[in-house]
Amino acid sequence: MQNNNPAIKIHNAEDLCKMRSSCILAAKTLNYIEKFVQPNITTQELNDLCHEYIISHGASPAPLNYNGFPKSICTSVNDVICHGIPSPQEKIKSGDIINIDVTVILDGYHGDTSKTFLVGECSNHAKRVVSVAQQALYEGISAVKSYGYFNDIGNAIQKYVDSQGFSVVRDYCGHGIGKLFHDAPQVLHYKNNESHIQILPGMFFTIEPMINAGSYKTKLRKDGWTVTTVDKSLSAQFEHTIAVLEDSVEILTLAIQD
Ligand code: MF3
Ligand code: CO
Ligand code: CO
Repeated sequence: MQNNNPAIKIHNAEDLCKMRSSCILAAKTLNYIEKFVQPNITTQELNDLCHEYIISHGASPAPLNYNGFPKSICTSVNDVICHGIPSPQEKIKSGDIINIDVTVILDGYHGDTSKTFLVGECSNHAKRVVSVAQQALYEGISAVKSYGYFNDIGNAIQKYVDSQGFSVVRDYCGHGIGKLFHDAPQVLHYKNNESHIQILPGMFFTIEPMINAGSYKTKLRKDGWTVTTVDKSLSAQFEHTIAVLEDSVEILTLAIQD
C-alpha cells in the first residue's frame, strides 16, 4: 500500500496483537484506580497505586523518566490542562476534577489512555466541562475513517466544542504511537487545514482533546511540565489509543470487564 506520509508507520497484524494487550492493560489501570479517586487521597498515592498495578502486570509506566518526567502517571487537577506531576503535598478534595493519564509499555508497545474523574460532589459547571471533553473525544473518534483525513478529526471536535461554548487547547495534540510513545503524526484537535494527510489501515494514534471552560491559551509552570489554563478556568481531557483497520476503527483502550 502507498503511504502518503512515510513518517507515519503502517503496522502489521503482530503489532496490532501486541498493541491490543498494552492498551487493554492501560485501560484496566484506569478502571482499577477509579475506586481510589476520593477526597483526601494524594496524587502521589494515586501514582504509587498505578505504578504497582502496572509493574505487577509485567509492564512499565512510560512517563517515568520520559524526557525527565519524574513520576509514573500524570495527574492534572482543575485548571491543570495536562502533565500534572503527582505529589505527596497535593490532596484532592470534593468538588475537584482530576485527569489521570496512564501510559504503559508492555512487550515493547505503548498503550495510552486518560480520563477525567469527578471527586465527591462537583458543581454543574465542572460536570459540564467533563462531559463536553468526553463527548469531544467521541466526536473525534467518529470522524476517523480509513482513507479519510487527519484534519477531519480536529474539525469535528472544534465544531462540537464551539457549540457548547468551551474552547479546544491548541498547544498540545494527539500522536502516533506503537513502539514509540510519541510518533508521527501530530493529531490536532482544532479546526485546521494543515493535516491534510490520509488516514490509512495499519496506523495507530491517540486522540486526546483538552477542553477549557474559558480561553484555550496555556501556561507552563516553572517545574517545566505542568500546563495550566491562563485564566484559571477548568480544563478536562479524555484520551484513547485507536487502530485503523481496513473496514473499521478499533478503540484499543476500551476497558474489558473480566
Ligand atoms: N500520556 C501523555 C500523552 O497522552 C504524555 C505524558 S508525557 C509525560 O501523550 F512525560 F508527561 F509523562
Ligand atoms: Co497521548
Ligand atoms: Co496520555
